[in-house]
Amino acid sequence: MVTIKYNQPLTSYNTFRMDVIASSFCTVRTLDEVQELIVSDKLAGKQLLILGGGSNLLFCKDFDGMVIHVQNSGIRVLREDEDEVFVRVAAGENWHEFVLWCLEKGYGGIENLSLIPGTVGSSPIQNIGAYGVEVKDVFDSAELIDLKSAILYPIDREACRFGYRDSIFKQELKGKVMVWSVTFKLLKNPLIQLEYGAIREELNRMGRLNPGIKDVSDAVCNIRRSKLPDPNETGNAGSFFKNPTISAERSLLLKTAFPGLVSYQLPDGNVKLAAGWLIEQCRWKGIRRGDAGVHPKQALCIVNYGNATGSEILELAEDIQQSVLEQFDVLLDMEVNVI
Ligand code: FAD
Ligand code: EPU
Repeated sequence: MVTIKYNQPLTSYNTFRMDVIASSFCTVRTLDEVQELIVSDKLAGKQLLILGGGSNLLFCKDFDGMVIHVQNSGIRVLREDEDEVFVRVAAGENWHEFVLWCLEKGYGGIENLSLIPGTVGSSPIQNIGAYGVEVKDVFDSAELIDLKSAILYPIDREACRFGYRDSIFKQELKGKVMVWSVTFKLLKNPLIQLEYGAIREELNRMGRLNPGIKDVSDAVCNIRRSKLPDPNETGNAGSFFKNPTISAERSLLLKTAFPGLVSYQLPDGNVKLAAGWLIEQCRWKGIRRGDAGVHPKQALCIVNYGNATGSEILELAEDIQQSVLEQFDVLLDMEVNVI
């Protein structure tokens, strides 16, 4: 039986620390609870928000609807052979705790995704990525709950249509399903991924010359701690914008006009630009407007120094977007879900 709370403050449920209220709020831990909730009249006519760790959300106002906080737990090995292991993880498990569990078992594949806040259930929503790895690289399948019929059904990797910070969950299935578990395919003889230059440099600095997955994880954690704001100290939701993709022709023109442009060649011929560089060139890095600001070490992170409202954060983001558009003719897409 799910307990519904009314007028629930959400400050401790979002890493931007927005002081907003949900008109209805509940926590679900078992499949029965979710299914019972869906078929009851408690959700009738209500806007729904499925909540994990709240680390990719910006609340601009109180939420008039039902927040469903997913808190199921459990990690289970489904099958394994000498090389691979398939692990099913409940959506409510903490992502970094799961990474640590894999390191302990010696299962490779997600060490480059260390220290990303949030839950396992959210990891496929925007196909979390960092340091050359994305969740799609280890994703096997997921169990979804249809939010209308309450039916539990599987989805495979191909059907998820993963892209850069994108998946079917942000498109056709947006607002229609709850991710209930994710099954990952991990390696028992891990191939470590060091092509992101900064990892190799950090491993050398640490004196780890023959690195394994724990070393890679330690290096990633060090790099992240050195430049990303810690949500326990300063409200933020990681990168506020995605890195934009443009055609090779446009990138050549931009490179001629701005020789310092930071860009990466993509396999499809297009080019990805470092949004942090674009924002820094527009002189936003480190600025502060009231309690809203741009992180001094990473211009892609917009931060809440204390009592900024969601609207103040959003206004700053829109001003940044506008100036990058004016200076570079590049539109930055928001990565954060604005509610
Ligand atoms: P929430 O913020 O709770 O939700 C995000 C979205 O997913 C919402 O639309 C929500 O409705 C939906 N959702 C959540 N759970 C479910 C579910 N079970 N079923 C269906 N929908 C659901 N992201 C990266 O990709 N790479 C990074 O390197 C990275 N670094 C970060 C660093 C910091 C300091 C912070 C604060 C954020 C960072 N992020 C990064 C963003 C964030 O951590 C990820 O997007 C993460 O997956 C969000 O998880 P969450 O549980 O907090 O999701
Ligand atoms: N840069 C600047 N100024 C800045 C920030 C970055 O010039 O203030 C330039 C630098 O040249 C730097 C390059 O941009 O070398 C790339 O910066 P960084 O390695 O910090 O990565 P990012 O592209 O800014 C992306 C992800 C992060 C992920 C890191 C590491 C996006 C939107 N962001 O950031 O993910 O952790 O790479 O792989 O793709 C997130 O999604 O929330 C997130 C934090």
